[in-house]
Amino acid sequence: MASFDDEYERPAPRTRNYAQNLSLPVSLIPPWSQRISVAARYTLTGMSRRPLPRLGEARGGHRLFAALYDPLTASFERAVLAERRRALLGDLTGVVLDLGAGTGANLVHFRGPARVVAAEPDPWMRKRLTARAAAAPVPVEVSRDRAEQLGFEDASFDAVVCACVLCSVDDLAAALAEIGRVLRPGGQLAILEHVRAEDGFAKWQRRFQPLWSRVSGGCHPDRDIAGAVTSAGFAFEAKDMFDPVPPWVLTRPWLQATARLDA
Ligand SMILES: C[S@@+](CC[C@H](N)C(=O)[O-])C[C@H]1O[C@@H](n2cnc3c(N)ncnc32)[C@H](O)[C@@H]1O
Repeated sequence: MASFDDEYERPAPRTRNYAQNLSLPVSLIPPWSQRISVAARYTLTGMSRRPLPRLGEARGGHRLFAALYDPLTASFERAVLAERRRALLGDLTGVVLDLGAGTGANLVHFRGPARVVAAEPDPWMRKRLTARAAAAPVPVEVSRDRAEQLGFEDASFDAVVCACVLCSVDDLAAALAEIGRVLRPGGQLAILEHVRAEDGFAKWQRRFQPLWSRVSGGCHPDRDIAGAVTSAGFAFEAKDMFDPVPPWVLTRPWLQATARLDA
């Protein structure tokens, strides 16, 4: 069976790309333009849903996305997300799993947990996360776990945090099943995610998803996350839909919520 390192650290095998299909000398075409042109062609024409390489994936993880994540999200973080994170995370206690912790944006907002496990499979994100973990106000342990296959015992967490991650996991239902497994009975799922629009804008989110996913670390703007959480057996105890961005932004509206598994 492939280990985590096999999956994430080893360079991906080279596949024939767009330029090679056209018989152009690959050396004449910069790699980024090949990837963008292939993604654009497939998105705009809907010619195929065959998996395309994501930016930066060839070296394992999303190096460019990880480098740009903090600078690109800084103003939105300050204006909107920081306050939301504070409200969602400030009262959590016990042992908490921060799933897809990224560069560690949640960490400064924890006050009560005895310990936080920050799980991040992308090595480029994890490098930044590890640096932030050392300065966090609570003890933080960094892990490589993927949401769909968590290497923790059943019922080992008092709370699981999903902030801007359920849009990116490969298998949403499998991730939610794993979250339910590692939560202790009565444990809390804390959610801060952008979700599928409830109006006609959902059509544009679906249409642009293939291209968007390629430039944003695998993000799916068209996911019905609230519906998936309910289907996984959770019941919402608090649920706030908010729309903090202009109407043309793909990643809207947002959901801030807490949920527990139905007894
Ligand atoms: C948009 S970032 C959000 C990071 C952070 N939670 C935040 O709120 O800023 C999404 C993160 O989810 C991680 N991720 C993607 N697929 C994942 C999976 N299957 N399991 C766990 N994390 C995953 C990515 O590596 C990335 O760091």
